[in-house]
Amino acid sequence: MTNTLEALTVPLIQAPMAGGPSNAALAVAVSQAGGLGMLAAGYKTVEAMAAEIDDVRAGTLNFGVNLFVPESDPSDPGRLAAYAAALASMALELGLAAPEPGPFSDDHYAAKVDYLVANPVPLVSFTFGLPSADDVARLRSVGTEIVLNATDPEEISAADALNPDAIVVQGAEAGGHRATHGQAKEPSESSTHELVTLAREYTDKPVIAAGGVTGADIAQNHFDAGASAVQVGTLFLTAEEAGTKEAQKDALLSGQYRDTVVTRAFSGRAARALSNRFTERMAAVQVVGYPQVHYMTAPLRAASADNPEGLNLWAGTGFAACQLRPAAEIVDEFRSL
Ligand SMILES: Cc1cc2nc3c(=O)[nH]c(=O)nc-3n(C[C@H](O)[C@H](O)[C@H](O)COP(=O)(O)O)c2cc1C
Repeated sequence: MTNTLEALTVPLIQAPMAGGPSNAALAVAVSQAGGLGMLAAGYKTVEAMAAEIDDVRAGTLNFGVNLFVPESDPSDPGRLAAYAAALASMALELGLAAPEPGPFSDDHYAAKVDYLVANPVPLVSFTFGLPSADDVARLRSVGTEIVLNATDPEEISAADALNPDAIVVQGAEAGGHRATHGQAKEPSESSTHELVTLAREYTDKPVIAAGGVTGADIAQNHFDAGASAVQVGTLFLTAEEAGTKEAQKDALLSGQYRDTVVTRAFSGRAARALSNRFTERMAAVQVVGYPQVHYMTAPLRAASADNPEGLNLWAGTGFAACQLRPAAEIVDEFRSL
């Protein structure tokens, strides 16, 4: 189990996308096509993560698993209560009870690491912060490659100090949650290309460019600046195999959405989504409050399952390039790199 990244036929990693999109079928299709399929363990129980790993293993032995590092910045109870109050009228319109601040959750992080040490996978990546040196050492000791996320030079340096196999530099174009280490920090506005260019001053580890990569030309530009691979999320949201909600796939393909926005409205942590009625309505009152706001808005999002205006339509700035097609076709676009 060595050199998972170096052995890729196509230097493309399918982004782990928690919440449904990056299911086992997508990861298998990407890995079979020569890229690296990734599973997202975020929001899952250990048992659900393990079952999905087993499903992937039936189709490929080349894959990775992504973990949410528990939030290091605490949420302020007063702000959470104020946001719950601000959501009340929307809840009422949906016929729901007044929202309550959700619980803190560490996303079963320690148990997931223990599972992955006992049942090794080729690669583990981390977002929202950094793992401990001890967890890195434990995973490495069973042959697992380590990939860390960073969104600015300070985070690249901190990631480099853990001696990972590669660092994903996630630029401001990226869809979904920013990988920012700590929710309280304002997300970096550096573009993917700026970060790739800067990264060489802060690390000599392989750099993976993430954010706004919608074709081989953009990827080549990042390679020319020193990247070794790209991590692509948004393009895969409308892959045929992806587990993305139908309402979100339809919204991405509809041509009716023009803009994305970085918002804390859905989860309390900065994330890029299609701008819709929910993001606009909550723009002025959104608070730092991950993961409690995620749980607070869950019933509202569930009640809006067929209404894209009430959903977290995670998407990067490049969403207009989305097409409904097999994942292998997306991988093929990057085969010339
Ligand atoms: C729907 C969605 C969910 C995501 N979930 C995760 C996740 O669970 N873990 C993670 O490390 N990154 C996650 N990301 C971020 C991606 O890893 C990556 O940085 C981003 O998709 C790259 O930008 P792009 O969307 O413009 O391709 C998510 C992105 C999207 C669009």
